[in-house]
Amino acid sequence: MDWKNALPDIVTHPSSRLRFGEPLAKHTFFGIGGEAAAYFEVGTLAELAAVAHFHRQWEVPVAIIGRGSNMLVSDTGFNGIAVRLIGELAKLEIDENANAVSVGAGVSLPRLSKSMSQRGLSGVEFTLGIPGAVGGALIMNAGAWGSSFGDVVTNVTVMNDTGALTELSHAEAQFEYRHSGLSAYFCVTGATLSLEPGDVETVTAQMQAFYKQKIATQPFAEENAGCIFKNPPGDSAGRLIDECGLKGYRIGGAEVSTVHGNFILNVDNATAADVLNLVAHIQTQVRENTGLSLQTEVKRLGFDEAH
Ligand code: EPU
Repeated sequence: MDWKNALPDIVTHPSSRLRFGEPLAKHTFFGIGGEAAAYFEVGTLAELAAVAHFHRQWEVPVAIIGRGSNMLVSDTGFNGIAVRLIGELAKLEIDENANAVSVGAGVSLPRLSKSMSQRGLSGVEFTLGIPGAVGGALIMNAGAWGSSFGDVVTNVTVMNDTGALTELSHAEAQFEYRHSGLSAYFCVTGATLSLEPGDVETVTAQMQAFYKQKIATQPFAEENAGCIFKNPPGDSAGRLIDECGLKGYRIGGAEVSTVHGNFILNVDNATAADVLNLVAHIQTQVRENTGLSLQTEVKRLGFDEAH
């Protein structure tokens, strides 16, 4: 039997959605990529555990795509199940006494940032301009303006591919610059954050100041996946790319932003191949001009099916 015939059996929650042959371009901020064999909006922990079992039983690749903000999907798509976490997995709960916030991996960072500022809780003001989900922010240790998401995390809950949940401490999550140890697990389901009590006006003003800084220094209107490259230690990839005269350089429909050199924009129906050719061109130019090797930070999906 084909796994696609068996998959509908694990959909149990009324708000969960399962579709086959779903274009992933519409689920990524890059707006690029072919179809996922299956696309599943998973609404409960029990369903997520069922996806884990299904993955093992049928040996079907599963990718948790979050909000698709830091992701490049191949032109041939993803021959597996692309999962987005919603419902019970996108909840935000606040323990007012402890200033502790329990946040599901499916919550978007802008929603988290706004909710916390409305309650005068400080620590995630920098996340308003980062369009991803909490799960991706944990795995990538997303950051901006001198802060990183891992800084406010006390615990992370992960699911392994038997469907079992484990709570990890901050140290066990192994946060580093744009990296953590969390990609080793089947899925990150949520985290507990420790935020500082403050007042609504101050926290909101700080959040808005960071957002204004983002709008002033980074592209926001065109489709993109955030910074393409990690910064080399002590330097800015964007500055190096700028120094090499690559701003505005274009391959097919993909162009280096004229605002910030570390962003590639989908300006005219770019393909994933256009983006990767542009990435390779930038890497070569920067290596020849500066001797530095730039490493990509954007997650790739569908380029090889191993997961
Ligand atoms: N610069 C240039 N030309 C450019 C880009 C930057 O000269 O095209 C200069 C700036 O003028 C500044 C310096 O380089 O003097 C640093 O630039 P910026 O403050 O924009 O920071 P960045 O190191 O380029 C990092 C993060 C961003 C984050 C910003 C703000 C990485 C890869 N990038 O960029 O994160 O928003 O700091 O804190 O760590 C992301 O990870 O997706 C991302 C966008």
